[in-house]
Amino acid sequence: MEVTEVLQERTGAPAEGVWSAPGRVNLIGEHTDYNDGLCLPLALPLRTRVAASRRDDDLVVLSSAGFGRVLRCDLGQAGPGRPKGWAAYVVGVLWALRQAGHEVRGMELAFASNVPTGAGLSSSAALACAVGAAASDLFGLGLLGSDEGRAELAAACVRAENVVAGAATGGMDQTVSLRARAGHLLLLDCQDGAVEHIPAALPGHSLLVTDTRSPHQLLDGQYEARRRACEAAAAAAGVPSLRSLGPADLPSLLAAVDEVVGRRARHVVTENERVRAVVAALDTGDLAAVGACLTAGHVSLREDFEVTVPHLDVAVESALVAGALGSRVTGGGFGGSTVTLVAHDSVGAVREATERVFAAKGWDAPVFYAALPSGPAAREV
Ligand code: GLA
Repeated sequence: MEVTEVLQERTGAPAEGVWSAPGRVNLIGEHTDYNDGLCLPLALPLRTRVAASRRDDDLVVLSSAGFGRVLRCDLGQAGPGRPKGWAAYVVGVLWALRQAGHEVRGMELAFASNVPTGAGLSSSAALACAVGAAASDLFGLGLLGSDEGRAELAAACVRAENVVAGAATGGMDQTVSLRARAGHLLLLDCQDGAVEHIPAALPGHSLLVTDTRSPHQLLDGQYEARRRACEAAAAAAGVPSLRSLGPADLPSLLAAVDEVVGRRARHVVTENERVRAVVAALDTGDLAAVGACLTAGHVSLREDFEVTVPHLDVAVESALVAGALGSRVTGGGFGGSTVTLVAHDSVGAVREATERVFAAKGWDAPVFYAALPSGPAAREV
């Protein structure tokens, strides 16, 4: 059923409009966002759509085509840790906008999404950003009309995730969902929030996303533990964040902190360098160098940051054996998806090799998506 039909059936009136926001894949720059670092994500063609209408009280009513229940939440009761579950991302954005001084009220909302959940492709950010986009237009906030407004809306979505959903993530996912440009990668500098749109010039090549179907879960404390280790390393170095350090600072840092903290910091410092190297290689059309950086990023996430799992390592390995230029885990890790740079005519070989190895291990079949750089959150109807 269409989202507009779900809403109309429930409320008896047509929706005031439909908004959508994309999931993302990160090409390079992982676990850098909460370290004031650099990342290079792109918006996927996969989107969450929401049909929405205003209410003149504080009730938020939500349902989705794939989720039988209708949820009712009081916006006035929202706050840290409330409501729980996926409603946190919906009500949380309205709460954060209100906290920022915007006059928002309750809403009638109906969702549908083709962003897979648990695949590390930011389904929750897509949900929050779609709701934020709807609220901005319906309550006359005007945030979609400029990049500054979109940055403000992204900040509200991040607050929803950090404070209401209670996940201490950085801001990459919401930023790319709201500020991406079709056909481009988004170079995001998390120190000041500046963005640059980098043409996704990959002649003859594709970016292939492989959902390894190994459920990814950020809320089990591992993500937060990585964040704390990075903060400890920055404190030991006497700098506000790891962004202040370059490769030349690593030997003295590694000598000063415990071994695990040192490896976490080394990942972040070298990952910022890899983002710069990928941007430079895209500029000169050196796709072999782009691929090499992706694979080096995976090794760093596996060895130093320790956020990979066997499904991810095996997907990367089989892609490389089948001829990909580079491959790595994308997103927070601990399961989820990989992103692979591969020549058009080797895409089939990579897919088949990955399917074959997964089947031999008795794992669920992987699911593939073409990462065509797509547009940001927008009103559809
Ligand atoms: C998750 C978080 C992001 C970012 C990545 C790792 O996707 O939501 O903020 O930290 O992990 O790069």
